[in-house]
Amino acid sequence: MSTNISWVEEAWQKVNAKVERTSEKIGANFPHASVGGRYQLEPSSWWTAGFWPGLLWLLYRDTNNDSYKEIAEQCEKQLDTVITDYYKLDHDMGFMWTLTSVARYKLLNEEDSKRRALLVANLLMGRFNASGNYIRAWNPWHEGEDNAGWAIIDCLMNLPLLFWATEVTGDPRFSIIAKKHGETVLENFIRKDGSVHHIIRFNPETGERVEAIGGQGFAPESAWSRGASWAVYGLSLLYKYTKEDQYLQAAKNVSHFFIANLPEDYVPHWDFRLPENITKHRDSSAGAIAACGLLLLAEQVCETESKIYKESGIKILKSLYENYGAWETEEEDGLILEGTSHYPEGKNIDVPLIYGDYFFVEGLSILKGSRQLFW
Ligand code: GLY
Repeated sequence: MSTNISWVEEAWQKVNAKVERTSEKIGANFPHASVGGRYQLEPSSWWTAGFWPGLLWLLYRDTNNDSYKEIAEQCEKQLDTVITDYYKLDHDMGFMWTLTSVARYKLLNEEDSKRRALLVANLLMGRFNASGNYIRAWNPWHEGEDNAGWAIIDCLMNLPLLFWATEVTGDPRFSIIAKKHGETVLENFIRKDGSVHHIIRFNPETGERVEAIGGQGFAPESAWSRGASWAVYGLSLLYKYTKEDQYLQAAKNVSHFFIANLPEDYVPHWDFRLPENITKHRDSSAGAIAACGLLLLAEQVCETESKIYKESGIKILKSLYENYGAWETEEEDGLILEGTSHYPEGKNIDVPLIYGDYFFVEGLSILKGSRQLFW
């Protein structure tokens, strides 16, 4: 989708200039949220571990800057210790290895990365609960917690690893499981109005749905905007891989809800359904994720319908660039300001988030004409 928009090239130059500086500081580490202007590092097992190397691969694809490649490869190597740590691996293996091993395989045809990503796809399949047809999200966060029945909307973005595994091996097991999880999402997570639940708890023995849980949203019946954005992008991807109309209709439904609820500057509040007395912080990361999903949806519908998705995706990215970008200052490591990672737990509010940065750069690369998705 080449758009020939002048601000896109300008934004791309600014991203490159900034990452040339920050990559020297951050190196082969795993940043998550930039607090007080400095990216805080997480262990390699944290779900966000793929975004920094993924961002470097996006830039490497365009610039051939070897230092980006070296850092991304070192990050991928560090993830190897996580593969053998049963207690630390959760469903976010998809996020982590899609943007490291799958990205490297797609760009450089590296067999080593293919082997790693296939091993991880096997492990991800192992989290499938065949009674409830869902991929289990997390392991217990604390001693005694029982979350064996939890599935979350974010998992849609872990499914591309499974579709990729079927594509490269010819073995349908991976995509069969991805589709079964996708059907569970359609039946249980998406409300009639196009908003989505964050967490659904199933009975892990019988597979029956027990309840919806608010999770990172304000309440079980509110509308956490990043959850909505995972649905916009995840369902567009599910349609891309399956060509099943049910996913196209669902992708449109959640996109319409998302677009209709955007404030004047097109950058979402952290939850679309907040009571008056709760501060409406932005979550710029939700905007960046949804923009990529909307641009993908625009590619998959007829020309007349395409316009609304493409224009909305562009408006979000343009607003992020013009109103939320930290371009000139050396006092800030992040690219895009005002993300909100976990409001209910009071964590990382109004700060740059590495996934906001990643999807902003992915969105720009799509607008510059790249047709290759790592997902
Ligand atoms: N996948 C967790 C989040 O979006 O914060």
